[in-house]
Amino acid sequence: MRVLVVGGGGREHALCWAIAKSPRLAKLWCAPGNPGIAAVAECVAIGAEDIPALVAFARDQAVDLVVAGPEAPLTLGLADQLAAAGIACFGPSAAAARLEGSKAFCKQVADAARVPTAAWQRFEEAGAARAWLRETGAPIVVKADGLAAGKGVVVAETLAEAEAAIAAIMEDRIHGSAGAAVVIEECLAGEEVSFFAICDGTDALAFGAAQDHKRVGEGDTGPNTGGMGAYAPAPAFTPALQAEVMERFIRPTLVEMTRRGTPFRGVLFAGLMLTAEGPKLIEYNVRFGDPECETLLPLLRSDLLPVLHAAATGSLAGHSLDWSTRHSLVVVMAAEGYPGAPRRGTAIHGLDAAAQRAMIFHAGTTRDAQGVLRAHGGRVLAVAGTGETLREARDAAYAAVDSVDWPAGFCRRDIGWRAL
Ligand code: AMP
Ligand code: GLY
Repeated sequence: MRVLVVGGGGREHALCWAIAKSPRLAKLWCAPGNPGIAAVAECVAIGAEDIPALVAFARDQAVDLVVAGPEAPLTLGLADQLAAAGIACFGPSAAAARLEGSKAFCKQVADAARVPTAAWQRFEEAGAARAWLRETGAPIVVKADGLAAGKGVVVAETLAEAEAAIAAIMEDRIHGSAGAAVVIEECLAGEEVSFFAICDGTDALAFGAAQDHKRVGEGDTGPNTGGMGAYAPAPAFTPALQAEVMERFIRPTLVEMTRRGTPFRGVLFAGLMLTAEGPKLIEYNVRFGDPECETLLPLLRSDLLPVLHAAATGSLAGHSLDWSTRHSLVVVMAAEGYPGAPRRGTAIHGLDAAAQRAMIFHAGTTRDAQGVLRAHGGRVLAVAGTGETLREARDAAYAAVDSVDWPAGFCRRDIGWRAL
């Protein structure tokens, strides 16, 4: 099979690494890729959001399967344009990608499918949002309705914080047009789990769960990020819970998406809160989590490629996945300044030594003309350790982190603390 992976972060490095192991692979490209991905795939200088160029490349190279990493190309219609060209795509149509692209759409689908989720309201006007806030009180959650790179959510402990969030999102437009409307939600309490299901429109295959650390600071404090680390399996997510989520969340959602004429193909990422009343949906995403993907894939024993192809072509029935019984833990190394404006261009050394201890997935790196690896983004490296226990996995990941020579980078030292 000739395969094109779209994206250039840690998730896409992990996907390329897993796909490259497949005996069914004939040729692997990644657009745009990164210096880490270049070790396992041919990188192509096409941006992940340049849909016409991606489709033209896939057609010219007789690509059999395109695997979309991030959500942006999907919301821009990558899967639709590929379908029109007769090329299979792992990832949903633009209409189905609205599950992630619009928080309000996600809540409407969840309500129609009777998926348990937080009570919510959508507002297009700041005054009305403020009035509703004063009625409901804090704690409360304020979200930009559109895509805001995982940063459009404020979990407000006080009314003042919630009001400041409304002003920032709707009036100052800190997330641009994503803040034209806000969704305000009941605040759920419990352990948070990222669950993944591979879907072909009708059938779904559980892909397992990981727990992610969203806050930038140790002890899960400070601003939200795209994810500072993750581990799998998630101890709080028992097989019984997984079965419940497949039956009460994933399958009814697939039925509802099909009923709307927009069947969901690709990976459905359910952000769940394990509340005292049972699991509740925080949100759906239409892609693998990052860094959850880097945590889960080192545990996968099966060949990933046939499963992705089956999902993309509506033939998932009969497929299964075989997982290692080991544990996995990823530590994200980020550039100073993240999740604000990260410092770019600082040199990174020592990755060969680090790679002796753990998998090093490149998330935001570039190579300069002299061949020196440099930071090129907020989250820069995803360091994945595995072990017989979670503790061993953590020790392997931090041993690798400690061999990376990058003074301008930082990481949390407490990934996995809730489970350890
Ligand atoms: P999201 O971008 O919707 O995943 O939200 C980012 C983070 O905000 C989530 O991972 C949760 O930690 C938190 N969050 C979102 N919605 C809620 C909610 N209704 N209750 C509590 N926490 C939430
Ligand atoms: N790590 C959370 C996400 O990918 O959205």
